[in-house]
Amino acid sequence: MTKRGSKALLVGCGSIGKKHLQELLPVFDAVTVVDINEETLAWAKAEGDGRVSTRTSVAELAGEIATAPFDIAVVANWGPDHVKTIRELLGFGQRNFVAEKPLADSIADVRAIGDEVRGVGGKLWINLTRRFSGLQAGIEKLAAEHSLGELQSINVIGGARCFATNGIHYLDFANFMFGARPLTVMADLDTQNINPRHADLAFYEGTAVYGYSGRRRFSISLNNSSSINEYAQLLWRNAEGELAPNGDFVLRLRVAAEIEQYPSVTRTGNASVEVFRGNLWLNENGLTGMTALYQTVLEGDDSAHGSAPDPAFTAEDLLAALISSEKGERLSIPVQVSEVEAERQWSIS
Ligand SMILES: NC(=O)c1ccc[n+]([C@@H]2O[C@H](COP(=O)([O-])OP(=O)(O)OC[C@H]3O[C@@H](n4cnc5c(N)ncnc54)[C@H](O)[C@@H]3O)[C@@H](O)[C@H]2O)c1
Repeated sequence: MTKRGSKALLVGCGSIGKKHLQELLPVFDAVTVVDINEETLAWAKAEGDGRVSTRTSVAELAGEIATAPFDIAVVANWGPDHVKTIRELLGFGQRNFVAEKPLADSIADVRAIGDEVRGVGGKLWINLTRRFSGLQAGIEKLAAEHSLGELQSINVIGGARCFATNGIHYLDFANFMFGARPLTVMADLDTQNINPRHADLAFYEGTAVYGYSGRRRFSISLNNSSSINEYAQLLWRNAEGELAPNGDFVLRLRVAAEIEQYPSVTRTGNASVEVFRGNLWLNENGLTGMTALYQTVLEGDDSAHGSAPDPAFTAEDLLAALISSEKGERLSIPVQVSEVEAERQWSIS
């Protein structure tokens, strides 16, 4: 049921913007959609059944926002435009935002934009969907049931999935599963002009390795010459989890008698005892990550969940890997950069 008189703004109604519109319509009375593509705007109008109005530029909304800001403005155009759009809307008087990932394409903007929004009393959510999904609670419940101890490693491998485009979701997953930002990164990455969104946008393959406190690690290795989906391997001391992009999860343990006989960690063995196979995508209320995100928007709570670090900085942790790769150096996080390096805009989306 929508709240009477509530209104939302959606900037960019492409592949993910369309999904945002479908989440916004059940929640808000009216939605204004801004896109430069007329066909997209026609689709949005039809989808809205009288509740969607359209514009071709954000500037057309200056007067309306000054009088009555939108309850939420969703920024779902391409990565390099996210901060520019948020700043333009802030200038008109808009306060609350859902930004698509990556929040920003430079270290300076990642560090500044959250404060700019919150400094004027606004709120900022980022659609790093796994945070709002059932993955963390589901995996932690299984880990507790089987006394797995602390999660030690998350390793992602796959084909042409782009470290920036899709890898950021796994980096954020590692940050909230480990409850911390990484301390270090070392990367060897390369890009080809194969980004389906735009030829000017990068598409990164290669490997990045992040170190967290307690020798916990996140690694990701992608290859642009393969069309195979990625999956994530989760390692506990004596157990292994396998996570597919759709939330399918398999948990396997080592044979207890083998561990008893040879308890040393270097006496490795296969995790051959399957104890769980199922999908963990929906949260405890049966909601998808995106529906749950809009639930938190309605509740007005834009704080990071539990002990999870601020999702805004996942974009900085990602950019740190791109810088590490260029420099051929292992870097500490937060990354130390000159003003010029901080301002550098990376063509990620
Ligand atoms: N969170 C997720 O799971 C997820 C999934 C897909 C995409 N994304 C992110 O969402 C963003 C958009 O990706 P996409 O796949 O929807 O791209 P897309 O190319 O399908 O859509 C982008 C839309 O923005 C519009 N646009 C471009 N310039 C504009 C402008 N100046 N004003 C208004 N509209 C403009 C385009 O016409 C297009 O409709 C990217 O940053 C991407 O990384 C996130």
